[in-house]
Amino acid sequence: MGAASKPGPMDLDLSPYLGGLLISTTWGWPTDTEAAGTMENELLIREIRIEDADVIDGIQSAITQEPSRIDFKHIIEEQLPKKEAISFVAELGGRVVGYMISYVIYGGYGLENSAWIATLGVDPKFMGRGIGKRLAEEIFQVYRNRRIKHIFTSVRWDSVDLLSFFKTLGFDRSNFINLKKDLDI
Ligand SMILES: CC(C)(COP(=O)(O)OP(=O)(O)OC[C@H]1O[C@@H](n2cnc3c(N)ncnc32)[C@H](O)[C@@H]1OP(=O)(O)O)[C@@H](O)C(=O)NCCC(=O)NCCS
Repeated sequence: MGAASKPGPMDLDLSPYLGGLLISTTWGWPTDTEAAGTMENELLIREIRIEDADVIDGIQSAITQEPSRIDFKHIIEEQLPKKEAISFVAELGGRVVGYMISYVIYGGYGLENSAWIATLGVDPKFMGRGIGKRLAEEIFQVYRNRRIKHIFTSVRWDSVDLLSFFKTLGFDRSNFINLKKDLDI
């Protein structure tokens, strides 16, 4: 993909989302302005907060290159009380540069329990530098600790970037088929 491509939205027909942890690592990255050289910054993976909504909205708009139609504030507000669900942001030098929102379904789809990655995004300026992977790995670790084995997501068939990303994380086709019906409204 790369920042220039326009990925489609994740096609999750399910209901919302969110929870957390705090991990930091030292990480090198080129400056925002593409100035020469790299500098060491701290990549902090932390729980999502309500006040992250605007920045996440901005990341979403930068990815799709159109105003975001997702109410992230509402999503985060709904998620926060659900302590079993995990949603993290990645902060670099104090700036939120990526997010991943997941939730847990107990007893749904014939499974004992499962976690779903509902939406994610990395600021196009910072794509391709391992941020998405770190977010995913930290979320997987929390679910692993909670003995939640099955992680699902749903990706548009033509979202090659997301398909490639999830493939590198070890995702494969599931046994489920997404069905949909559009209501007249
Ligand atoms: C998909 C996305 C989260 C990846 O984040 P990222 O920080 O750029 O990815 P990473 O640098 O962590 O890459 C992790 C792995 O995925 C692979 N990958 C990431 N983007 C890729 C792409 N576009 N094409 C092919 N592979 C890709 C990387 O090569 C890497 O593989 P490796 O571990 O074997 O080296 C990010 O590109 C993004 O936000 N895309 C838009 C998502 C979107 O549409 N969101 C809105 C609706 S939910």
